[in-house]
Amino acid sequence: MAGRDRFLLAGVMGWPVMYSRSPVLHNYFFKQYALAGTYVPLAIKPDNLEAALRALAPLGFAGCNLTIPHKERALAIVDEVDDLARRIGAISCVVVRPDGSLSGTNNDVHGFARNILQQQPAWRADGGPAVVIGAGGGARAVVYSLVERGAPEIRLVNRTRARAEALARDFGPSVMPIDWNDRHRALEGAAMLVNTTSQGMVGQPPLDLELRALPASALVADIVYIPLETPLLAAARRRGNRSVDGLGMLLHQACIAWKLWFGIEPEVTPELRSVVEATLPPQAT
Ligand SMILES: NC(=O)c1ccc[n+]([C@@H]2O[C@H](COP(=O)([O-])OP(=O)(O)OC[C@H]3O[C@@H](n4cnc5c(N)ncnc54)[C@H](OP(=O)(O)O)[C@@H]3O)[C@@H](O)[C@H]2O)c1
Repeated sequence: MAGRDRFLLAGVMGWPVMYSRSPVLHNYFFKQYALAGTYVPLAIKPDNLEAALRALAPLGFAGCNLTIPHKERALAIVDEVDDLARRIGAISCVVVRPDGSLSGTNNDVHGFARNILQQQPAWRADGGPAVVIGAGGGARAVVYSLVERGAPEIRLVNRTRARAEALARDFGPSVMPIDWNDRHRALEGAAMLVNTTSQGMVGQPPLDLELRALPASALVADIVYIPLETPLLAAARRRGNRSVDGLGMLLHQACIAWKLWFGIEPEVTPELRSVVEATLPPQAT
C-alpha cells in the first residue's frame, strides 16, 4: 500500500500530450482513495526524453506512462526492460524503483484483453481467425495478446506491408501479413476485427474498410477511444455486430500502473468510465 506520509506523483510523457485523458482518470483514483497526490501531463520533446526520465527519481515520481512518440525510444533509456515490453518493442509504463533506477513494462497488452473480457465476457481469442488492421505500437500489444490467448490465425493488414511483415516475423506463424488492397476480403470468416490504426480518431478520416464480408457473429473492437464510438464501431453496430470501444483498454492499463507505482489496484467501474467519458466527444464529427 502506498505510503500516506508523502505526496504521490506520477504522470504521462508525450509530444503532444494535452489530448491525453490519463490525468483525468488517475486523478480520479487519488480522490477515490483519499490520497494526497497528483498525475500530470508532461509535454516532453523527443530529444528530452532521457533527461525527463532521469528526472523522475529526484523529483519524487513513482513512475510515468509513455505515449506517442516515446514508447519505442524509452527501451534504450530505462535500466531494465521486462520480457513483455521487450517482446512488444514498446514501453507504456515506467516504474521508479526504490534505488532510483527505472524499469519499463507494457500494460497495453493486458489492458486490451481485460477490456474485451469486461465488455464481452464470453469472448475467446481461440474462437476463430482475427483480423487486425494496423501494425504500429498499439497493434503489437494487440497481436501479442491475441497470440498469447491462442488465436489460431491473425490476419494482419497494414497500409505499409513491410511493417506488417516485420511484426509477423516477431510474433510467429499464426500472424499472416495481408496487402492493404485485400483488406475488405480479409474479413471473410473472421471471428474478430480490431482497428489499431489512428484512422477514425478525431481529426482523422474514418478507417477505409468495407464490412460486407464480415460475419454477423464477429466481434468488432477499436483501440481508438476519441471519439468513443468511432465510425467503424458505428458501422458495426448498424449491421448488428457486437462491439467494444477503446476506452476500457486505457482504463485497465491505468489500473495495472497503479498497482506497480502505489501498490493499489483500482477497478474499472461504471463511475470511472463515466468520469472519463464525460470528457470525450461521443461520436465522430
Ligand atoms: N485505447 C488505448 O489504450 C490505446 C493504446 C495504444 C494506442 N491507442 C490508439 O491507437 C492508435 C494507434 O496508436 P499507435 O501507438 O499504434 O500508433 P503508431 O505506432 O503510429 O501506428 C499507427 C498505425 O496507423 C496506420 N495508419 C496511419 N495513417 C493511416 C492511413 N491514412 N491509412 C491507413 N493506416 C494508417 C499506420 O500504418 P503505416 O504503418 O502504414 O504508417 C500504423 O499501422 C492511436 O489512435 C492511439 O491513440 C489506444
